[in-house]
Amino acid sequence: MSVKTIFETLEYGPAPESATPAMDWIAAHEGAFGLCIDGAWSAASDGASFEVLDPSTNKVLARVAQAGTADVDRAVAAARKAQASWAALSPHARARHLYALARAVQKHSRLLAVLESLNNGKPIRESRDIDIPLVARHFYHHAGWAQLLDGEFPGYGAVGVVGQIIPWNFPLLMLAWKIAPALAAGNTVVLKPAEYTPLSALAFTEIAHAAGLPEGVLNLVTGDGETGKLMVAHPGFDKIAFTGSTEVGRAIRVATAGSGKKLSLELGGKSPFIVFDDADLDSVVEGVVDAIWFNQGQVCCAGSRLLVHEGVEAKLLAKLRARMEKLRLGSPLDKAVDMGAIVAPAQLDRIRGLMAEGAKEGGTIWQPSWAAPTEGCFYPPTLVSGVAPAAMLAQVEIFGPVVVAMTFRTPAEAVALANNTPYGLAASVWTENINLALDIAPKVKAGVVWVNCTNQFDAAAGFGGYRDSGFGREGGREGMWEYLKAKPAPAPEPFKPEPFEAGLGPVDGGLPGIDRTPKLFIGGKQARPDSGYSRPVTGISGRVVGEVGDGNRKDLRNAVEAAHAAAGWAKATGHLRAQILYYLAENLSVRAAEFAKRIRAMTGAPASVAEAEVEASLSRLFTYAAWADKFDGAVHNVPMRGVALAMNEPVGVLGLACPEAFPLLGFVSLVAPALAMGNTVVALPSAAHPLCATDFYSILETSDLPAGVLNLVTGDKEALAKVLAEHDDVDGLWFFGSQAGAAAVERASAANMKRTWTEWTGRDWMGAAGEGKEFLRHATEVKNIWIPYGE
Ligand code: NAI
Repeated sequence: MSVKTIFETLEYGPAPESATPAMDWIAAHEGAFGLCIDGAWSAASDGASFEVLDPSTNKVLARVAQAGTADVDRAVAAARKAQASWAALSPHARARHLYALARAVQKHSRLLAVLESLNNGKPIRESRDIDIPLVARHFYHHAGWAQLLDGEFPGYGAVGVVGQIIPWNFPLLMLAWKIAPALAAGNTVVLKPAEYTPLSALAFTEIAHAAGLPEGVLNLVTGDGETGKLMVAHPGFDKIAFTGSTEVGRAIRVATAGSGKKLSLELGGKSPFIVFDDADLDSVVEGVVDAIWFNQGQVCCAGSRLLVHEGVEAKLLAKLRARMEKLRLGSPLDKAVDMGAIVAPAQLDRIRGLMAEGAKEGGTIWQPSWAAPTEGCFYPPTLVSGVAPAAMLAQVEIFGPVVVAMTFRTPAEAVALANNTPYGLAASVWTENINLALDIAPKVKAGVVWVNCTNQFDAAAGFGGYRDSGFGREGGREGMWEYLKAKPAPAPEPFKPEPFEAGLGPVDGGLPGIDRTPKLFIGGKQARPDSGYSRPVTGISGRVVGEVGDGNRKDLRNAVEAAHAAAGWAKATGHLRAQILYYLAENLSVRAAEFAKRIRAMTGAPASVAEAEVEASLSRLFTYAAWADKFDGAVHNVPMRGVALAMNEPVGVLGLACPEAFPLLGFVSLVAPALAMGNTVVALPSAAHPLCATDFYSILETSDLPAGVLNLVTGDKEALAKVLAEHDDVDGLWFFGSQAGAAAVERASAANMKRTWTEWTGRDWMGAAGEGKEFLRHATEVKNIWIPYGE
């Protein structure tokens, strides 16, 4: 027999990792686990528990407590009790604790990897070489943020008590992504692992306390979605962080609306994997393996839509089928398998159900000739081709080892196809032409783009998406913001209103004044409100000081359309945007006295206060003109030979519901940062005092601001804001108004999961809190683009 033949026919021998240490650990707990609250283990108050399985055999591994209302109450109380002293520790002391967690994970890495594979079904090669090392890396990285907290996040402190709900696809990695930044920032945590995969979280919690983590800082409650619901509804949390399905994420957005809880959601995806005709197809094939068969495709950012340049489709799919034929699927603890088991029977059924339905769509479903094991939850790698972009299989997140291939002819078509989903999580772009890759990356709607690589993760680079993929980032500096809030600033002294009548009533020797009812401002033009109605504006003296248009749903639709048509603003240079903001300031300064009078008539501000407001508005325009070309992204230091570029992109079309107080400054404080970062805007001025904003459009008309970049709709601000929140083509909404209005906006925003920023507590618009990077962060999305070097 020749060496060549031997190589070609050589069979794999078994290479099993022993399950014994993990099974011994389970046995040492008599196969039953409780909740960890305030550093102590206990059963659920009502004694409820459920079984946890090994999905590769469907055998029971252990019983785990199902936390109920009383348990969640206890866990929140423990976290609350521990929070002040945890936050009061020096940053260095917290850094030492996080460092200890990183070390403890490394010391127990094999046990954790085996437990993970046993309980989740993922190949030991992945849990041992990817998941657990990334867990340790996350704690090391965040030990660093704890150490640097005061210097790098001045004026910010912990949010408080955080509820974290995580999924089953990366049980320990998601735990690390959640608790490392939370603890580094001084929060305490109640964490709920997914019901299928609680074992590694239980082991971690035990190890963490053995490593000296103070009681009550990390509380672990196990349970299913019912426990999750109890957490979301609990008033004792200051923040909820969730990773899981878009459906549940949407329910959480609705449930927390108006509660003031900070929220971050990492949801699903249907990520494009774009292959141009000059790509190295052999690398592409390995890329596809990593994109969709890593973790059996149960990855939120899995490259599940393979978009291939038409000319190379046949060649690529032939290579891919040959590779699929050689993939090995089997026991997760076998070190030589490529794919393990699907997490649970319910998930396997879901995949099978979707595929059975998808088969009716007329595409070609291809699977390798070998059969998957019939015992346990196994599903073979699957390639679907010949389906339309709108087909169910091309649109729905299957969350299994199924890739759907489609073709395109031009780069523009590739981008259109890539963006043809409601998601916006990740994408990868394959081409040997770096110019093309870097042209495509910004055009794809995704929080992460990998160039000639895929599924790269690191603690130093933010991860997360937008639209139906949720909001917020995990990892890096971006991720730390999710667990911090500004320390409260002293409330400003309210002024004593003074009557002001100048400019009202008949003038010109007894002749009546000429009526000047401002219209709406849409697409660069004054527009009559659709309703045909106007609203009186009552001044401080109780007299009508003017009237404004009463905008409605139709006006908002027109305004949003105009804002979309002006999307070229995002591509204008920072320099150009700065020039235009400076010019607005220049034109405002000429009319400073007139604006001050308007403010006095509407609000009763004393002359000095009104003049200071105009002056502050001028300064604010300068601030954001200054920032327009300075709010840079970053080059993250990730452990690869390459770079991860964190680019600040505009959010898109922003709805801005302006504060009631400070009618000019409040308006400028929202509009200027949004414009500076390249967003187009539909602004809803103060409902009570709208006239400064409407006066402002004559300034806009004489400026170089392109038509449609800033649109103004006056009327019932809170009702209008809700309409904007419901609008599918609005990407983000800032709301400064009442708590009830904020609740309505947040609830309505769940339809397309747009980012919201709501506030009803009031802020010191004249002071430092009125401007700065907080506004710029809300005006941008961070896109991380990974670019490896080398041949
Ligand atoms: P899921 O979203 O229901 O579960 C994720 C976590 O949320 C679990 O800890 C669960 O107990 C908890 N949960 C469930 N209902 C809840 C509620 N009403 N309130 C609060 N917490 C709740 O995901 P599931 O049902 O396990 O998987 C279904 C599909 O979701 C998958 O097929 C996949 O498409 C998607 N998914 C996406 C993930 C991602 O990372 N993007 C992760 C897990 C699932």
